[in-house]
Order: sequence, then structure tokens, then C-alpha cells
Amino acid sequence: MSTEGFEAAQIDTSRPHPARMYDYYLGGQDNYEVDRLAAERVIALLPDIRLAARENRSFMHRATRTVASRGIRQIIDIGTGIPTAPNTHQVAREVDPQIRVAYVDNDPIVSAYAGAKLTNEGNAGFALADLRDPKSLLRHPMVEELIDFDRPVALMLVAILHFVEDAEDPGAIVRELTSALPSGSCLVLSHATHDFHDPGQIRDVREVYKNATATLTLRPHDAVRSYFGGFELLEPGLVQPPFWNPTSPVPDSAELRGLGFYCGVGIKP
Ligand SMILES: C[S@@+](CC[C@H](N)C(=O)[O-])C[C@H]1O[C@@H](n2cnc3c(N)ncnc32)[C@H](O)[C@@H]1O
Repeated sequence: MSTEGFEAAQIDTSRPHPARMYDYYLGGQDNYEVDRLAAERVIALLPDIRLAARENRSFMHRATRTVASRGIRQIIDIGTGIPTAPNTHQVAREVDPQIRVAYVDNDPIVSAYAGAKLTNEGNAGFALADLRDPKSLLRHPMVEELIDFDRPVALMLVAILHFVEDAEDPGAIVRELTSALPSGSCLVLSHATHDFHDPGQIRDVREVYKNATATLTLRPHDAVRSYFGGFELLEPGLVQPPFWNPTSPVPDSAELRGLGFYCGVGIKP
């Protein structure tokens, strides 16, 4: 992988990182041996994980177009991931080139790529910050400079909340972030679930992530739905990614119906 421009000392190559494992699922090159080995173990347990990652990413693109088409002109994308074109700002700017995007991730490898691949076109910034400290995140100078909290904002929590443990109170974190947003703002959220898989399979997958830099907490439909408290869900509600406003007919496939992910978009009244 290219190491141009990053702080090599900050990058831990001794443990798998969720961002780099996800990059591997998506077919990216920005991962290390330790990530590939862990990701291959997950693929052996959950062969549909690669499809789930692609479908999640595709939901993110459709949701970004949806919020931009509703007039949102500023986005906070927490849990950015290793850049994979098209990224949020590229999709949003197909609707309006002036849309501002504040990217946030706690992984130094994402930070290392941000300058070249996320923030180089202007009107976008990156903060190396942690979702689990929402107060500091909202007060980060980059976020304060780019985001006007008097105007509607799209908050994106796409495939990140399952890296927050129950003991860290993900519901309170989401409430803290969303309470800073004015009426008309949107919450774009996706989350891994165990609703469609065998408990034994899931236990083994969780074991793989226990050795990574973030553990994995899968949640059922009701728990994921609860993060939209105070928001009105856009149709079709909280569903698996292939079924969220597809742009072409979805084939009738058991694999798609069994994908272990939920996603939705809510509007703050
Ligand atoms: C599976 S990737 C999702 C990337 C992108 N949102 C997508 O759905 O295509 C999850 C990202 O969340 C980041 N992440 C995990 N825990 C985090 C935390 N506590 N604070 C900030 N970022 C976190 C990881 O570093 C990784 O880049």
C-alpha cells in the first residue's frame, strides 16, 4: 500500500483495524496482512459480508443524494472510512458543488489519506476525533468552521455505531449529536445486525473483532430504530440496504434478504 504522507508511527499494524478490514471487503488495497487475515476469517464465517459492505456503501450514496436533493448543504460524516470513490463529498456535489462536508474518523490511516482524497477540493475538512466523545467532536475547530448549526445538517453515522459498545451508551451519543441539529436536519444511519444469522456464526465473528482495535456489537431492529428517536423516518423506514429506495428493481434473492445490516434516513421535525 502507498505510505505517502502519513504518520507511520501512528499506524498500528500489529492489530486489525475495522477501517482497513472494511476496505478489504470492498476490494480496496489500503490494508495490511493483519487486516486481510482477520477479514478472511470473517468472510469464511459470513460469506455475504462483502456483499453487505458493497450494499451499505451503495445505500450511503443514495442517501447522500436524497439529503442533498432535499436542500441540505452541509454534512457531518462520522466514521468516514478509508476513502473509496465516490466519497460523500463527490456524491453530494453532483447535486450542488458548494455542499460542505466535515469528515470525522478516529483512525490515523483515514486521517493520512484525507488531505489527498477528501479535503483537496475545498469546502471539506477532516477531524481525527472520536464518536464516543461527542462534545469534543462538535467543538472541533474544523467542524465549527465548516458547519453552521443554525441551518439543517445531514449527520451520517454509516456503519459505525456497531463499533460502540452498550456500556459506552450509543443512544446517549446519538442524542447528544442530534440535539445540536436544527429542524430540517437529517440522520443517515446504518448498522450491522444479527437478526438474519445463526447465533454461533455471529459469536465467532465477534471473536475476530475482539482482537481488532474496535469490538463489534450487532443489534436487533428495535435497538437500531431507537437511534432515530425524535426523527421521522423517510419511506421505506429502517430496512436492509438493498431495499432502501433502490434505483433499479431488486432481484428476488435469499442472499439479499439475509444481509445483516439495517439502514434508514430520518428527518428532524
Ligand atoms: C466500516 S467503516 C464505514 C465507512 C463508511 N462510513 C461506509 O459506511 O462506507 C467504519 C469506520 O468507523 C470508524 N470508527 C470506528 N469507531 C469509531 C469511533 N469511535 N470514532 C470515530 N470513528 C470510528 C473506523 O475507523 C472506520 O473508518
